[in-house]
Amino acid sequence: MATENLTTSVTLNNGIKMPRLGFGVWKAAPADAQQAVKEAIEAGYVLLDTAKQYGNEEGVGRGIKAGLAETGRTRESLFITSKVFNGDQGYQSTLDNFSGTLDRLQLDYLDLYLIHWPVTGKYKETWKALEKLYAEKKVRAIGVSNFDRATLEDFLPTVEVTPAVDQMEFNPQFQQAELVPYLKEKGIYLEAWSPLGGGKSLNEPVIKKIAAAKNKTTAQIILRWEFQKGIIAIPKSIHRERIDSNKAIFDFELTTEEMNLLDQLDTGKRTGPWLQNFDWYDPQTGDPDLVQTWD
Ligand SMILES: NC(=O)c1ccc[n+]([C@@H]2O[C@H](COP(=O)([O-])OP(=O)(O)OC[C@H]3O[C@@H](n4cnc5c(N)ncnc54)[C@H](OP(=O)(O)O)[C@@H]3O)[C@@H](O)[C@H]2O)c1
Repeated sequence: MATENLTTSVTLNNGIKMPRLGFGVWKAAPADAQQAVKEAIEAGYVLLDTAKQYGNEEGVGRGIKAGLAETGRTRESLFITSKVFNGDQGYQSTLDNFSGTLDRLQLDYLDLYLIHWPVTGKYKETWKALEKLYAEKKVRAIGVSNFDRATLEDFLPTVEVTPAVDQMEFNPQFQQAELVPYLKEKGIYLEAWSPLGGGKSLNEPVIKKIAAAKNKTTAQIILRWEFQKGIIAIPKSIHRERIDSNKAIFDFELTTEEMNLLDQLDTGKRTGPWLQNFDWYDPQTGDPDLVQTWD
């Protein structure tokens, strides 16, 4: 425990190390993302998560530049993820969009590039583009997001490179009971999006009670629970005090009993979007505005 910190990593199936606690920026406006990413780098975060769909890659790029300048850290000290969005999928357009992402982020490589959602009829050729980017060393690892077991069963037999991660919703309310053992069997790491349930898990009475007893915040209890379960988490905040406090999970442990109490909070109900509940694909424009139909 004493040696755990924001650089504590898992080893992905291609040998690359990926930090276990990181930082996300969905729903952060570009200027907020810029400031928050700068502050996250100052706070010592290594793993940063964005996507073209968030509309803030340019802000994230400026934040990275400012954070590195402020701290003297190097680009190589970071682990930067982005994703190809739905309307951009297909072989050539994925390659083109990857270039756009690098330009907006002002980077010359990514650490991890993901297929954001499995667009029916497209995700296999999109993956071929990711495999090319990986072979050309423009990205250190490639993975998927929002691929459930059925999708993976269709997809995995067709790949040359096995995805390193599957980024999925995971939080105390929604624990992916079916997917977790399947990913383990396939050697694919689960990376939790909405690890705090998009904020909805923070007022859960059982978690509040544990937090009060341990003099911790509910966010810290949840993030520690995910850490001890071996799940990579990328909580988002645009507030400096939360960016700082969310990383303070390395000076305490949850007991087996406390872990079990959180395990029992699984309702099997999502807090965020899923394949069926949004209009997620405009082949003409890939318009990110199309996706906002959930609460
Ligand atoms: N692949 C995908 O399809 C997908 C989907 C969703 C998310 N993601 C990624 O996962 C990241 C995290 O997920 P998320 O942003 O949906 O949800 P989240 O990290 O579970 O929760 C973020 C929300 O909780 C609030 N918050 C954070 N820390 C807090 C604290 N200590 N106390 C009180 N409130 C706190 C934030 O507000 P403030 O910002 O106001 O502090 C924000 O409203 C995203 O940013 C994105 O990078 C990926």
